[in-house]
Amino acid sequence: MFIAANWKMNLNKNQIYDFINNIQDFKFSNDVEACIFPSSIFIDYVANLNKNSSILLGAQNCHFSEKGAFTGETSPISLKLLGCNYVLLGHSERRINNNENSNYVRKCSFSAINADLIPIICVGESLETRDKGNALDYIKNQVHESLPENYKQAYIAYEPIWSIGTGQIPSHYEIEEIHTLIKDEVKKVTNKSVKVLYGGSVNPKNAKEIMSINNVDGTLVGGASLNVKDFLAIYSSAVK
Ligand code: PGA
Repeated sequence: MFIAANWKMNLNKNQIYDFINNIQDFKFSNDVEACIFPSSIFIDYVANLNKNSSILLGAQNCHFSEKGAFTGETSPISLKLLGCNYVLLGHSERRINNNENSNYVRKCSFSAINADLIPIICVGESLETRDKGNALDYIKNQVHESLPENYKQAYIAYEPIWSIGTGQIPSHYEIEEIHTLIKDEVKKVTNKSVKVLYGGSVNPKNAKEIMSINNVDGTLVGGASLNVKDFLAIYSSAVK
């Protein structure tokens, strides 16, 4: 199991200090990975503060180039040097607010992999798409268009847009249906396996049940990951 804490553009330096201090003595399990995704400006700070080698570090995005004239962007090579192992790509907030389409996400994933980062590629349908009965086709396309072939290890995060920050989650059947579809499609096309995380309104109350669903390999947690108690409760519910 894998628990990803997507802090988005939240937590200031003092809050990060408290959070990281509060998890130093926690006994993380060898079977469940925990990865924190701070905003890029604080990645170095978290890396220096965190003495607990069990906690992995990731970035919320990276650029498709290693370096160059790309004002305001972050190189995957720099992220790797700061100690990141993972990078989120194509989060729906970036797809919507920054006009990132799947082609762009694929380019960024490609360069992330070349920099030895493991990509977590986010996909998810809008409520309109789901209501029209097109969720499966939509997700299938997003996966095909976003996932590059050059990966050894990759994650897909299934995050229905209508579930992010809303408290609404799909039924267990719907989650299993999409996760199974993603794994089957990736296997068919690349002959490789992929792990699939669920994201969208995961909290300490629903995490255990969500992670008991077939083909759910972990969770990508936004809001609830900002509170250290909630984050650790979600983590603990993944430990068998
Ligand atoms: P949420 O966000 O847990 O606050 O719904 C999840 C995400 O956007 O990754």
